[in-house]
Amino acid sequence: MSAPLLGEYAELADRRLESLLPATDVQPTMLHEAMRYSCLAPGKRLRPALCMASSEAVGGTREAALDAGCALEIVHCFSLIHDDLPAIDDDDLRRGAPTCHVRFGEGIALLAGDALFALAFEILGSLDAPPQAVVQALRCLSHASGSDGLVGGEVMDVLSEGKHPDEATLAFIHSRKTGALIAAACEIGGLLGGGDAEQIHALRRYGAHVGLAFQIADDLLNELSTPEALGKAAGSDRARGKATYPALHGIEEARRRADLEAEAGLRALDGLPHTEALAMLARYAVERVH
Ligand code: IPE
Ligand code: IPE
Ligand code: MG
Ligand code: MG
Repeated sequence: MSAPLLGEYAELADRRLESLLPATDVQPTMLHEAMRYSCLAPGKRLRPALCMASSEAVGGTREAALDAGCALEIVHCFSLIHDDLPAIDDDDLRRGAPTCHVRFGEGIALLAGDALFALAFEILGSLDAPPQAVVQALRCLSHASGSDGLVGGEVMDVLSEGKHPDEATLAFIHSRKTGALIAAACEIGGLLGGGDAEQIHALRRYGAHVGLAFQIADDLLNELSTPEALGKAAGSDRARGKATYPALHGIEEARRRADLEAEAGLRALDGLPHTEALAMLARYAVERVH
């Protein structure tokens, strides 16, 4: 993808996140510092980009999906803080800086994650959009975040460490821990852009495929890249015996499957009016270098 296009969406999201996150001169200041530290660190802002591009894909505007995109980014940041904790992946580096628990301690990191999760739903509940769309967006994000989505995927990821999960379990983990939130970003963007039920369904399918492709690419980067390039640990999946596509299928087959998922995502866009940005984001998901 053209990094410039992702950069445009990211800039909008960065500016808006800046004002949506609580100020550090408000008590409890350490909590607010931790929330801002993790959320405003230089992430790619892929989920806000997908949310805004999905609104545009059905003829809506970026602005209509900006706050929802930020809510998705905030849930993502909560998940990164908790994912990095000693009880889960025990990582020290995230987005090129010490992880939240290394910087602020485990207690504050846990609670910053909790507060971010709550903030995301407050933002969605405050959207300036038709009440029916707001309710649907709330339902979509709750489902994507919970036991049948991100949290469920994280649980299976942890329980599968050191084992040799089968293909179905691996797909279960990846499509939930990462795919669910990415599919929700696309669905919610389509909803807020005024898409009809069929278009929203297509966007959801696109997001599920691209989300799985994105996580397979993450597995490949963990195996093949460096902490300097990634801003987070490399080689750690193998060291922890994580369930990954390269571990189960090898590098070449994992890459082939990531490409196939991205292509399936592109096919799901057939019939939508403005798909250029989403097409670029699908390719970026598998071609990225960090
Ligand atoms: C990292 O996500 C964790 C996964 C779900 C693979 P990103 O690769 O989107 O991380 P940031 O937001 O750019 O830091
Ligand atoms: C990605 O987890 C999914 C979530 C954080 C919910 P990973 O553990 O695979 O991602 P990284 O490598 O820590 O970013
Ligand atoms: Mg993990
Ligand atoms: Mg991790």
